[in-house]
Amino acid sequence: MPYYEGGDMVNMWRRPEVNICAIAGCILQVSLAVNCLHQESVIHGDIKCRNIFLDDHDNAHLGDLGYARFVSGQKTVLTGPLGTSTYWSPERFDCESDDSVEEFDLFKCDVYALGVVCWVLVSKEVPVAGANYLAWLKGATHLNIPAHMRLAMELMLEPIPEKRATIQEVMTMFSSPKLWNEFPKRPEFVVSDVGVSETTS
Ligand SMILES: Nc1ncnc2c1ncn2[C@@H]1O[C@H](COP(=O)(O)OP(=O)(O)OP(=O)(O)O)[C@@H](O)[C@H]1O
Ligand SMILES: [Mg+2]
Repeated sequence: MPYYEGGDMVNMWRRPEVNICAIAGCILQVSLAVNCLHQESVIHGDIKCRNIFLDDHDNAHLGDLGYARFVSGQKTVLTGPLGTSTYWSPERFDCESDDSVEEFDLFKCDVYALGVVCWVLVSKEVPVAGANYLAWLKGATHLNIPAHMRLAMELMLEPIPEKRATIQEVMTMFSSPKLWNEFPKRPEFVVSDVGVSETTS
């Protein structure tokens, strides 16, 4: 993997103003990469802002496959450490003992982690282990996220894995004209600390 001068997505998150379209574009690009892995029965296992790199044009590249693993079925018993707890889905917290035999859908864990990435980029909130991100998103009415993007984020951050979107569904939602047509056409619309706002010139 090349070294990306643009750094990782934490840089994007820290920018005082970033266009919500740029965020949606990055989530789409990462979902394409994650879909390729999932199609090959490989889970990434550590999707987070620090593991998504930006090139000179703000294209997002998913990297750091240190926790990636092949999984033979839809659900698997988790062995060994996996991922970063601030990006863990709620079901991961229910089962932290070493001798646990509970089976997880690790594909859905990847989707949840991508949902957290999207949430932190849009909200600029610091991720917190065990947070109810869906409740935070639903409560964040001031962010004024376009309806289809909000719905996509809700489906990624759904706490019940069976109800959570698959990565294919995420890809479909983030490439849908319905989602893109809701974005403001003018570059003056930005996500700032007070959400999407229109600047006047
Ligand atoms: N190819 C790359 N291009 C640009 N920056 C990179 C690249 N690979 C790693 N980095 C940066 O180097 C730093 C260290 O990465 P590293 O993967 O070791 O740690 P991390 O992602 O913070 O934690 P973890 O060990 O959980 O993955 C991060 O800030 C990461 O963004
Ligand atoms: Mg890393």
